[in-house]
Amino acid sequence: MKEEFKLLNEWFTDVSSETVLTHFLQTYKGRIALASSYGAEDQVLTDMIVKIDPMVKIFTLDTGRLHEETYAVMDQTNKKYGIKVEVYCPLQSEVENLYQMQGINGFRESVENRKMCCHVRKMEPLRRALDGLDVWITGLRRAQSPTRETMQLIEWDEANGLIKLNPLIEWSEEKVWDYIKIYKVPYNTLHTQGYPSIGCAPCTRAVREGEDIRAGRWWWENPEHKECGLHLKGEKQ
Ligand code: ADX
Ligand code: SF4
Repeated sequence: MKEEFKLLNEWFTDVSSETVLTHFLQTYKGRIALASSYGAEDQVLTDMIVKIDPMVKIFTLDTGRLHEETYAVMDQTNKKYGIKVEVYCPLQSEVENLYQMQGINGFRESVENRKMCCHVRKMEPLRRALDGLDVWITGLRRAQSPTRETMQLIEWDEANGLIKLNPLIEWSEEKVWDYIKIYKVPYNTLHTQGYPSIGCAPCTRAVREGEDIRAGRWWWENPEHKECGLHLKGEKQ
């Protein structure tokens, strides 16, 4: 499997994101979807995908703890593109259990609690969202974090058992924002208030000048823990 992916990545070197997307959307029609958190990168991908094929599945994981600004851009995106992004919510019984076990904001008390919350609110809904798919598309970029430096355009996602396509893997933040401006793509207004990376409201804050892009995510934890599990390599979560 590894050799095959190495060759595929070589094959698509220097190919535009739109061309890569067109190839994958045609090849895996009906078995491919974009995972969108409505971050700047995901909005670029939504714009590109809708222009190629407006019927492609786009889904989001609504953890129940998102910012109002995120719900606003969800609404604007559906309206602008005439689409209905599929929303996956956590299971009611699991959220009720979580509150019983760790309280309302228990995720602040330990990494273990935080991972449990991410599991209930993101990982379990992701499993359902990916069910029946061969490929999921994400807005990951290498420059976002040291934990993402070795990521590839096309990867085998061992944890979820399908291909992961990261069309913007080589893009700079500047290129993302140039695209948004040129094509008038709707974006989360928190990006203009010092939030380069946006997750759940209680676990995201603005970053200061010069700080790392992901410094505002789970800021109370050590950097090596700062992944919610959606993009961990290796074994099943
Ligand atoms: S995270 O793992 O720290 O949450 P990040 O916010 O950088 O990830 O987003 C990276 C990519 O993961 C996004 O471009 C998107 O493809 C996917 N993703 C993250 N959060 C969500 C979400 N709530 N719903 C759908 N996809 C998401
Ligand atoms: Fe829970 Fe925070 Fe993870 Fe959101 S980011 S699922 S609130 S721990």
